Amino acid sequence: MDLVLVPMSGPDFERRAAMLRRRYAGNLEREKGVAPADAEAEARRQMAVVLPRGLDSDLSILRSAQVDGVQVGWLWAMLPGAPTRPEMAWLHNIDVDPEHQGRGHGRAMILALEAELRELGVSRLGLNVFGGNKRAIALYESLGFAVMAQQMAKPLDTTPVAEPEPTVAPAAVDDTDQVPDPQYVAGLTRVRVAAGVLYRDGQGRVLVVQPTYKDTAEIPGGALEAGESPLQACRREVREELGLDLPVGGLLGVDWTPPRPHWDGALTFVFDGGELTDAQTEAIRAAPDELSGWRFVAVADLDALMVPRLAQRIRTCLAQASAGIYLESGDVPMA
Ligand SMILES: CC(C)(COP(=O)(O)OP(=O)(O)OC[C@H]1O[C@@H](n2cnc3c(N)ncnc32)[C@H](O)[C@@H]1OP(=O)(O)O)[C@@H](O)C(=O)NCCC(=O)NCCS
Repeated sequence: MDLVLVPMSGPDFERRAAMLRRRYAGNLEREKGVAPADAEAEARRQMAVVLPRGLDSDLSILRSAQVDGVQVGWLWAMLPGAPTRPEMAWLHNIDVDPEHQGRGHGRAMILALEAELRELGVSRLGLNVFGGNKRAIALYESLGFAVMAQQMAKPLDTTPVAEPEPTVAPAAVDDTDQVPDPQYVAGLTRVRVAAGVLYRDGQGRVLVVQPTYKDTAEIPGGALEAGESPLQACRREVREELGLDLPVGGLLGVDWTPPRPHWDGALTFVFDGGELTDAQTEAIRAAPDELSGWRFVAVADLDALMVPRLAQRIRTCLAQASAGIYLESGDVPMA
């Protein structure tokens, strides 16, 4: 019961070739993700390249495998010089019919092919096998075939990636883009913020304003409105109180006032307005609804006009030698 390879008949070839095309197209779909119509077309195209004249194509070896006159399978190989793999013989397909598999026929078919090739002086035989065909791979490896090259692929998850949940900022300041825990924010201390500016005249006296709504004097400035920076608030207050845009320069100091009954703590920014020119001084128009007046006051006389901590704040700021650096969101703001 020796297995022999005999030339295929025409009808046998047509039937087998059609089955092979269908299986190859199915493999392209499963293993390489090719769309069904494209896979079928690709299978036809490849076969037409290698077997342009079907059973009579040059360099082809198309054999029926027979045991005691019974066909058990077939194989298709190409001799060196064929269009696709000219450098070696190539086993394009081997099929053992299902009812005959697992009886050593596949191995015998390849050994018979090898013998035929050897007689023709062919020294090398190659083949392709899909990675999932474990049985065929085991057969080829046991016959001494070694991997020349491997195609690799992995399925990718194409479902849209969900936006990550915002993480909770653990830091005590907002120097992070993370969304903070609302409870954490609610527990933070609240402070008021105000900004004022020190303008002087040629004699070193300080410009003070007298608000209509209180007895004590102030320097130009006031509390920040929603969304304002200290510098913006200071410029706005100067414009509103004095009726013109006067320069607001660098930071002289930031004064912390602790919380007291009815009031949150406060941070007061004091900016340097420098010495005003006569022209600037003459252009000042105090807002009648906000101020009852304004004047330059000698530093020694400040205590008589304003609350002690404001007078002290002014003295300390004027006395400090080195300028502070005032930043908004990390940068020195434009003038
Ligand atoms: C692959 C195929 C050609 C093997 O032919 P076969 O006659 O069934 O195999 P054999 O009986 O000659 O067994 C040869 C070797 O294949 C391997 N093998 C056979 N059946 C196997 C199975 N069920 N599981 C894993 N390996 C198996 C073994 O290594 C075996 O060697 P061993 O018997 O010394 O252990 C045949 O199964 C077949 O035609 N399959 C469908 C078409 C196909 O996949 N062709 C290959 C395209 S590249």
